[in-house]
Amino acid sequence: MAILVCGGAGYIGSHMVDELLKNNETPIVVDNLRTGHRQAVPAQVKFYQEDIRDSKAMDKIFTENKIEAVIHFAACSLVGESMEKPLLYLNNNVYGMQVLLETMVKHKVDKIVFSSSAATYGEPKRIPIKETDTTEPTNPYGESKLIMEKMMKWVSLIHSVRYVSLRYFNVAGASEDGHIGEDHKQESHLVPIILQVPLKKRKAITIYGQDYPTKDGTCIRDYVHVVDLADAHMRAINYLRKGGSSDIFNLGSGNGFSVKEMIEAARKATGEEIPVIVGARRAGDPAKLVASSEKAGKILGWKAKYTDMESIIKTAWKWHKKHPNGFDE
Ligand code: UFG
Repeated sequence: MAILVCGGAGYIGSHMVDELLKNNETPIVVDNLRTGHRQAVPAQVKFYQEDIRDSKAMDKIFTENKIEAVIHFAACSLVGESMEKPLLYLNNNVYGMQVLLETMVKHKVDKIVFSSSAATYGEPKRIPIKETDTTEPTNPYGESKLIMEKMMKWVSLIHSVRYVSLRYFNVAGASEDGHIGEDHKQESHLVPIILQVPLKKRKAITIYGQDYPTKDGTCIRDYVHVVDLADAHMRAINYLRKGGSSDIFNLGSGNGFSVKEMIEAARKATGEEIPVIVGARRAGDPAKLVASSEKAGKILGWKAKYTDMESIIKTAWKWHKKHPNGFDE
């Protein structure tokens, strides 16, 4: 039986497809290619260029294939964009989840692993953040992910669907062999932006504020390697296969690193100077976000293998150096 990967042509989705193939699973991808890349999915993987909000197309995919479980990455994921287009986020993310769950219930597919986010918590009340902490999103993106979690909760209580929701912190890195990696038309994430400097695409990295109440004044985040994330999803599928009950897990490497520390790690990983400019704060950035991933350790047996920032950045650098223009070459 197959595992349907919604959004499998995107950054995290394509690393998931890779992980499934390594585990001798049969992934099938559905992706509308709004932000994903066809080239990120190997030719041998069955691919549907469809929008998950299209219930007829989804019905056809579930009729044509024997689907055992779904891994759901297909969503808009930019905090800044969500503050400009809240309804785009609610429509694509929430309505997408509705059609997906309706199709799963209709076809009696009873397992889903969901790509959620630390953005569901909003401004943290304590560090490290635990799954039981309050969820008060500060942007429509985080709100949409929280609504999607609640939709799964109610569907799981009423229909026989079980879910695992994985709340990621800051995802970075690329596949170890450098054949796939991060390629966003609109790049806003720290690691790929830092690497644009040694790639000669920008002259310096702008630090968004160094007056935060942290050790060096710059924001602290919990960076987790994309391959470690994919491993957590594989474990979540196996947990559901063994009859595990619906649950929510944080995924981070458990340590916080400042923007300045990340730039220093990138200098070591690339051997390049990487000049910095100190700019103003970016609206909506919390000073510190660090996950407690203890629960994922205890229940899924998951532990991040990459905890050293230089090694995470090295894998990203390998991909970017080989593919300076991403998938469009
Ligand atoms: N930063 C800079 N300069 C840049 C880009 C980023 O200083 O050019 C800083 C940001 O201010 C922030 C840190 O680097 O302090 C990380 O920023 P990212 O944009 O890479 O990531 P965020 O922490 O803002 O967001 C991430 C995910 C979101 C998710 C959020 C949850 O990208 O999807 O974590 O907290 F919602």
